[in-house]
Amino acid sequence: MNVQGLASLYALLSGMLTLLIAMGNVQGDMIDTSGLKAWETCAMCHGVDGVSHMDRFPKLAGQPLAYLTKQLRDFKLERRLNDNGTMTAMAGSKMMKTLQQAAKYYSRLPPPPAFKRSPSAIDRNAQILFENGDPRRNLPACRSCHGTAAQFPRLKAQHEAYLAKQLLDFRGNARRNDPGGVMRKIAKILSPKEIVDLAMYLAAQPRQKEVR
Ligand code: HEC
Ligand code: HEC
Repeated sequence: MNVQGLASLYALLSGMLTLLIAMGNVQGDMIDTSGLKAWETCAMCHGVDGVSHMDRFPKLAGQPLAYLTKQLRDFKLERRLNDNGTMTAMAGSKMMKTLQQAAKYYSRLPPPPAFKRSPSAIDRNAQILFENGDPRRNLPACRSCHGTAAQFPRLKAQHEAYLAKQLLDFRGNARRNDPGGVMRKIAKILSPKEIVDLAMYLAAQPRQKEVR
């Protein structure tokens, strides 16, 4: 290659380099990574799709925004302490605004699929408790709260082990962030067998997609 050839090659290469740098700058300006970072760390445990694989990590996909935000605030302020501090450490190191962005991200994802289990394995009594409660024991129907309003978590299609743990934690006062102690009262009326049966029933129920 002669000198002229080298010079034009150099010009071409430096032009491409300038272009690449410019593209990098444009992308850097246009893509807001703060939203991405908000849920990226969460995804390690809760999944990118909000459907965690390990059953000790709750599925967050499609949970109401108000519920998720309250839990994150409760973890941050050490009002919910039933997970040996994992989530308090997670929430404590982040600003409430960042946590809200993560909550928004998860609340907008489609709800998780139900766990597949043969209907014959599921205790009929669990469905009756969920739908009607038990007036003889002053037990309200779970459905009357769970399923509609934004402050109540959706229980259907959640991990069975997670649901059972929460109910046992309310029952034993390890989880104490329920307003007015509402879930602590309810969980104390339930027997340990009813808790296991309810968790098994709920995990296997499909959850409807909600319009928000
Ligand atoms: C190292 C694993 C891990 C990471 C990372 C993590 N979490 Fe969690 N998360 C947990 C565990 C464990 C629980 C609760 C288990 C329990 O109560 O027994 C939980 C519970 C929650 C709950 C309560 C859900 C419910 O149904 O009540 C929310 C909301 C939540 N996490 C959001 C987040 C967000 C947002 C992030 C990222 C900022 C995050 N988590 C990062 C492990 C993790
Ligand atoms: C009067 C309303 C009400 C009724 C009835 C009710 N719950 Fe709840 N439940 C709540 C509230 C409120 C919370 C969230 C508490 C908080 O803010 O942390 C909750 C939380 C829970 C959780 C934790 C979910 C999670 O994602 O961490 C489980 C499990 C649960 N309830 C199960 C039940 C079952 C099973 C029944 C029926 C036997 C029932 N609840 C009846 C109000 C109710």
